[in-house]
Amino acid sequence: FRMARGVASAKLRSFNMTTVSMGEVDQAFIQSIEHRANLDTIEIEGIPLIDLSLSHTTDINLLVSEIGNACKNWGFFQVINHGVPLELLEKIKVAAKAFFDQPVEEKRKVKRDEMNAMGYHESEHTKNVRDWKEVFDFLINDPSFLPASPETDDDEIRTLTNQWPETPPQFRLNGYFEDHTTMMRLNHYPPCPCPELALGVGRHKDAGALTIVAQDDVGGLQVRRKSDEVWVPVKPTPNALVINVGDTIQVWSNEAYESVEHRVVVNSERERFSIPVFFFPSHYVMVKPLEELVNEGNPPKYKPYNFGKFFVARNRSDYKKLEVQNIQI
Ligand code: SIN
Ligand code: FE2
Repeated sequence: FRMARGVASAKLRSFNMTTVSMGEVDQAFIQSIEHRANLDTIEIEGIPLIDLSLSHTTDINLLVSEIGNACKNWGFFQVINHGVPLELLEKIKVAAKAFFDQPVEEKRKVKRDEMNAMGYHESEHTKNVRDWKEVFDFLINDPSFLPASPETDDDEIRTLTNQWPETPPQFRLNGYFEDHTTMMRLNHYPPCPCPELALGVGRHKDAGALTIVAQDDVGGLQVRRKSDEVWVPVKPTPNALVINVGDTIQVWSNEAYESVEHRVVVNSERERFSIPVFFFPSHYVMVKPLEELVNEGNPPKYKPYNFGKFFVARNRSDYKKLEVQNIQI
């Protein structure tokens, strides 16, 4: 820790996680008792680990069914031999650490505000409790091509259109990601003096289609197991990426695959870095159960909804009621 500051005098907005001393945690971070972490280490069955290299099977259908089962039973799995260069992941982490190590005044020069949806943010909240972390967000697409807001008239929406090769045919993701607002986030969780009271990220589900997370070896991500609602730690596995189903796939699949609650526990010893990529459709995309998956016996469980409106409403802390049936936030 750097110099200790008196928390009592610290205003919430200027409270800085990286400068507190042991035993100090601002009220805003404190979780209600039922949501606090149990920090005892317990050995329980973890989420599936899937080898994407195909070296263990020559049958792609087996791999596909392994992934399908993981999505059905857990909504979460890890993959190894995923093809993302490990040096690239390391490079991103080094850059993230260098950014977060800077004085807060420097980081605030690129802060998220009413005009900029992307950038540095030091006070994330999940369900109105402040998360013990700081983040930096950026879009995978060139932001200048994105609609300023989902309320923008269709005519005004400037889209970014990818070029897709003719072959292989499976390269084209059914058009769902031709236009997208996919975002990469750099997460930094500083050591927390009271990890039994605060969380790095409070319990939540992800709004997008899929999330892919690179995490370091510290650990802290936990998944709510569907069968018994126990919080299961995601064991940091060398070179693995964590993948989870978000609300959008829950709707597309008409609930064959459900978006699962997860959270991040912090610790008093080590800082942690993670890099999620959130695959989001474009804001004007209407999300609804896929036609090929619905029929008389399996009617659509959701009305079509506009992704942008859903996304904005979901992230507003004053948000009360969403017009989409069944989606919990
Ligand atoms: C998140 O779910 O938003 C964070 C995931 C992580 O830090 O592992
Ligand atoms: Fe998440």
